[in-house]
Amino acid sequence: MYIYVTIIRLPLITLQRPIRPSLRCLTTSQFTFPTAKKLKLCQAMKIFSSLLLASLVTTCSAFVPLNQVLNATPIKTRGRFAALKMVSRAEKENPYMEELKANARKIGGRGRGILASDESNATTGKRLEAVGVENTEENRRKWRELLYTAPGLGQYISGAIMFDETLYQKTAEGKPFVDVLAEQNIIPGIKVDTGLQNMFGTDGETATQGLDGLGDRCKAYYKQGARFAKWRAVLKVDDRDLPSEKAIWENAHALARYAAIAQENGLVPIVEPEVTLGPGAYSIERTAFISERVNSIVMNWLNRYDVVLDAILLKPNMILPGLDAPIASKEEVAKYTVQVMKRSIPPAVPSIHFLSGGMGEEEATLNLQQLQKEYPDAPWSLTFSYGRALQSSTLKTWSGKQENWKAAQDILVKLAQANSQAQLGQFVEGTHPDGKNAPVFISILRFVLGGCMRLISRQAVEVDVSIAQRKKSQKRPRCK
Ligand code: 13P
Repeated sequence: MYIYVTIIRLPLITLQRPIRPSLRCLTTSQFTFPTAKKLKLCQAMKIFSSLLLASLVTTCSAFVPLNQVLNATPIKTRGRFAALKMVSRAEKENPYMEELKANARKIGGRGRGILASDESNATTGKRLEAVGVENTEENRRKWRELLYTAPGLGQYISGAIMFDETLYQKTAEGKPFVDVLAEQNIIPGIKVDTGLQNMFGTDGETATQGLDGLGDRCKAYYKQGARFAKWRAVLKVDDRDLPSEKAIWENAHALARYAAIAQENGLVPIVEPEVTLGPGAYSIERTAFISERVNSIVMNWLNRYDVVLDAILLKPNMILPGLDAPIASKEEVAKYTVQVMKRSIPPAVPSIHFLSGGMGEEEATLNLQQLQKEYPDAPWSLTFSYGRALQSSTLKTWSGKQENWKAAQDILVKLAQANSQAQLGQFVEGTHPDGKNAPVFISILRFVLGGCMRLISRQAVEVDVSIAQRKKSQKRPRCK
């Protein structure tokens, strides 16, 4: 085929083509040959040069296979061909690259997940105050000590995200938290964004702050023992026009720039594009549509910034309908969540750590388990990076009292274990520590109320009460 093209077809094509006008013009005005002679001479020259070229190519191809000629990379040639890139400089020149990939794999390993304990001082304060504990630096330190020293936590937790203040804190006995975590085989992580800023001219949409000085902060965090980072972008969704194009692009760009800086400084970036669970009756399909779009644009920006996907962790939302819509079944949540991830996240990303958002503790575990059933051979580990779903009951149990310390640690480890089992698809429904540990009278109350609610909603359908009333009765129980 190749020989046919070069030896037979090429000269034939040349013969069929007319002589170039420029040559014709030059010959008629300046040469003294008669026109017929000139044409013949030109034709002869063309045939000769075509044959010469064809034989040259054929001879070369006898020594070098054609596919090698076509795919050859002029690695050491000079001039404009010398810059053909096979790998980004950001990947090739990063001294941390192997360490980053290994840490990402370790954090995303099967059967474990992340404890998100990186709430700002203000948010931690609100949660402490809700259980009657004053928001002081010492109380925040105690609370984190309770979490990190829980015996056996490392069996189910691979990484713990900390806030700036916490990364430098120690136990009451003077042991740095980073060492406590290392002893539990838990990798310390650090939240590096500095919070949300309203975007002017939008319907309350936000841009995440913290790029200024980020490189220097990452260097200091690495020195202190952190090996991964977190940056949270929040996108509001409704059933009309949120999120705006402006908010998606702003947040995707910032996530990519942050991820590139984190990798440059040895921290595995958690990329968190949270399509946040908010008020409204928008459908689960709407969240799926928006999340797929957001994730895809984020991945595109990561590529533009040469972020190496094998060395990131993704922290998205599960796909849920708005808070005022009827609660979706775990099968529906898993179906849409898997669909979105398949469509938007490349398999090079080692693991996807879902946030618990507004889900209840048990709901978060059951949904996580269902994801494994929906996609058992997923290329990424589908796991968790839960904050409230691991901390709510723990904090309530502790309530700042020394005598509750051990009970609170017990419930934390049980919650982590339940989610670890769910990650492996081994959680037994009905055994969630959330329900199991509740005092008997609360369980009875729940049972009675649940029955009443079901009765009310059945009657509501019969008498055709307004949809709004039904939604109210099914409102999602939120993790506080
Ligand atoms: P929740 O699991 O409470 O949503 O928190 C996870 C988190 O870190 C959000 O950024």
